[in-house]
Amino acid sequence: MSKPNVFVTRLIPAKGLDVVQEFCNVDLWQGELPPGREELLKHAQGVDGLLCLLTDKIDGDVMDAAGPQLKVISNHAVGFDNIDIPAATARGIPVGNTPDVLTDATADFAFTLLMAAGRRVLEADRYIRAGKWKTWEPMTLLGADMNGTTLGLIGFGRIGKAMARRAAGFDMRVIYYDPSDNTTYTDLNATSVDFETLLIESDFISLHTPLTPDTRHLINAETLSKMKPNVVLINTSRGPVVDHDALYEALKSKRIFAAALDVTEPEPFPVEHPLFTLDNVIIMPHIASASKATRDKMSLMAAMNLIAGLKGEQLPNCVNPQVYK
Ligand code: DGY
Repeated sequence: MSKPNVFVTRLIPAKGLDVVQEFCNVDLWQGELPPGREELLKHAQGVDGLLCLLTDKIDGDVMDAAGPQLKVISNHAVGFDNIDIPAATARGIPVGNTPDVLTDATADFAFTLLMAAGRRVLEADRYIRAGKWKTWEPMTLLGADMNGTTLGLIGFGRIGKAMARRAAGFDMRVIYYDPSDNTTYTDLNATSVDFETLLIESDFISLHTPLTPDTRHLINAETLSKMKPNVVLINTSRGPVVDHDALYEALKSKRIFAAALDVTEPEPFPVEHPLFTLDNVIIMPHIASASKATRDKMSLMAAMNLIAGLKGEQLPNCVNPQVYK
């Protein structure tokens, strides 16, 4: 029996790629940058499966360019806002993602950013490199304490809960806002609050929400104006959840203390952006899940989703299970 044809839009760790290559004929994109629109449409033609990344916009046109034999789309990410899910569901195509395996790596990194922004770690490093360290001083580079402060989590799924567990080690009070969950988690010492309360009471705010029409620019001039002046804002979710122009104004005027962004709008984030002129912001190239073991697991999970779909089996992690009804 001939092997199914798949398009893999980027080199992924061997853990997953080897499995895919054993089972499929693989067209592996080798470009330095992700395939452009035309290339994506061309390489999708006639494939049985697509293994894609968050950098690939997979809409109905891509699905139609592939053709009616397209059996599965597997995203090498937990987030799937790059894929038109209703379009996939309408065509009966299951879409896979990679939850769980990146929860700890992402929460670890969000907490790293929280501490780094709060204690001005990168700014202090730049201070030394610029030859500014002349003597020890009681008032230089003063930052924020974590102990006894309030951590506000926007979104309380797996990664939000993992943040709450980490916060316990710093004796932080944890409050969260999640429109789909208002449970009080006594084991996590986390209390559900309304959005406004979270904005007003938090000393640290960390975003763990998917990008949807409701969460686009959730952090904007108005919501920033309600935060405490000492707040540290962390975003490891999706860039467009934050309005970067409003954030720039809030940081520049010291309306809020600091921010750390692992994700930006757009990505890559232009180095000319005025945010880069500020010392109280950290900007990272979307690396919260970037530990070797985590990326290995993500690639394997993406491979398993792809292969299950090609075999006509239910995907181990399917974001649109309605296709099976
Ligand atoms: C995801 O998986 O959605 C992250 O943004 C990248 O690991």
